[in-house]
Amino acid sequence: MSLHVAVIMDGNGRWAQRQSLPRLAGHRAGVETLRRIVEAAPPLGVATLTVYAFSADNWRRPEQEVSALMMLFGAYLRKEVRRCAKEGIRVSLIGRRDRLPANLLPLIEDMERATAGGRNLHLRLAIDYSSRDAILAAVNSCGGPVTRAVLAERLGPDVDLVIRTSGEQRLSDFLLWECAYAEMYFTSRHWPEFGACDLEEALESFRARDRRYGALGAA
Ligand code: FPP
Repeated sequence: MSLHVAVIMDGNGRWAQRQSLPRLAGHRAGVETLRRIVEAAPPLGVATLTVYAFSADNWRRPEQEVSALMMLFGAYLRKEVRRCAKEGIRVSLIGRRDRLPANLLPLIEDMERATAGGRNLHLRLAIDYSSRDAILAAVNSCGGPVTRAVLAERLGPDVDLVIRTSGEQRLSDFLLWECAYAEMYFTSRHWPEFGACDLEEALESFRARDRRYGALGAA
């Protein structure tokens, strides 16, 4: 079964604070976690992995933290492009591009071009992303009637499982349309300490659930 898993990578700051480290150290550790989870996902049956890296509301953070995050995204794109291409990981960006630092744009385009043929995993990085805005943009780009199928095609596949780390239990404007029938999995672990075993545990919990989509369950 090929699953779409969406991850809200929360708790980098709290993880860092707990160890008296600057918040940036937490974000750096968060990048390492992302690398581990991308590697662990395909053998566990994950076909699409959408990760919330920067919400449209995250621009409200202090400028210093925002620019540090943008630098980390740039470094990730630069460093991972060859590995992703080699390992069959298709990477794409969802979210607005027009407000990102100009130096990120060619890195995003390179990444998307170099990995376009990847079939092992589709990694979607949500950066400057708002689901409400994405839905509005999709609706406004429809010349003709807006149907479920048209929106699904523009927004992306339905999510099977949402994982949110660090104890928060909300969607925070992430994939609202796509999560109509998503199962939710919350863990108190902070993102930097989330590992392959935790992903496996989340998927085990998901597989034990009875997804009825409004119908009656098997007798
Ligand atoms: C949440 O921690 C995390 C973020 C705002 C996103 C940053 C994510 C990464 C650096 C992971 C790697 C991503 C890419 C694309 C390379 P928080 O700051 O909200 O933590 P807090 O709630 O404990 O303060």
